[in-house]
Amino acid sequence: VFLLRPETLRERLSAEPLDRRAADSHKGTYGHVLVAAGTKLMSGAGLLSASAALRAGAGLVTWALPAGVASAAIGLRPELMLAAVPDGGSGDWSDSSPEELAALAEGKDALVLGPGIGRLPGGWLRRLWERLPPRLPLVLDADALNHLAAEDFTAWPRREGGVVLTPHPGEMARLANRPTADVQRDRIGSAMAYADGHGAVVVLKGARTVIAAPLGAAYVNPTGNAGMATGGTGDVLAGIIGSLLAQGRPAIEAAAIGVWRHGAAGDRAAASRPSPASLIAGDVIEHL
Ligand code: APR
Ligand code: MG
Repeated sequence: VFLLRPETLRERLSAEPLDRRAADSHKGTYGHVLVAAGTKLMSGAGLLSASAALRAGAGLVTWALPAGVASAAIGLRPELMLAAVPDGGSGDWSDSSPEELAALAEGKDALVLGPGIGRLPGGWLRRLWERLPPRLPLVLDADALNHLAAEDFTAWPRREGGVVLTPHPGEMARLANRPTADVQRDRIGSAMAYADGHGAVVVLKGARTVIAAPLGAAYVNPTGNAGMATGGTGDVLAGIIGSLLAQGRPAIEAAAIGVWRHGAAGDRAAASRPSPASLIAGDVIEHL
């Protein structure tokens, strides 16, 4: 178990606290993220996630929404590309088919799924899981994790591309089928056990976020502050990790570097305001 520090980033994760860009690079160098997030009354979750993926350095970001709400997203963030997933006009992911989303994922370098997607029908995520390009790395957050908790995830086939799960303590408790207090009593052990048992990188959020690789290292993150206890900061983190995956980072590196930078941006955002209490999730994006 390692404390994340600039030295840890350099020596164990081959990263600098801030990224550099090669002078002769182009947007194709930095990957294309598909962010499937947001629905009728929670479209902001998708906008935050997709915007964070851009600020974290991805070359291209496509934001996928149910068709019934997609037109409301036009122009909110002109740098984003939009994709409408057929939904019979309801604006609800539960009326979309996983096959349509899997088709959109062809040729992308990472998929972020979950912030603000609401409830999904039983079997939807499993069908998606099996149809996605096998080497596409995934970030599953928020409602996608709640859906996962209701399925027999242990038995699912392992994916070749990495999988990063980003639960807050309540979501971790649902995944592990244990009380939240138990998770919080042993945060490192909880994250490591779930990572080992499911072959996924686990990011257990909250003050001192824990990042655990299956059968590997775990990291504890010192950056971030209580000003980040505000709606949407988790959606921002999911977008950052997806962005680093699309830029070619292995899952454990994307997760640990992403958590560190998310907290560091939150610290700069808090310092730029009269009080950390006034920090909002969009400020974290602007300080990446
Ligand atoms: N210190 C440091 N970091 C913190 C602190 C703190 N005291 N409090 C929160 N954070 C960070 C967490 O580590 C995490 O990265 O802020 C982020 C909060 O993420 P979430 O708990 O997922 O919150 P949010 O983005 O609002 O989630 C939106 O999705 O997960 C669901 O139920 C959730 O409806 C909510 C929605
Ligand atoms: Mg969340």
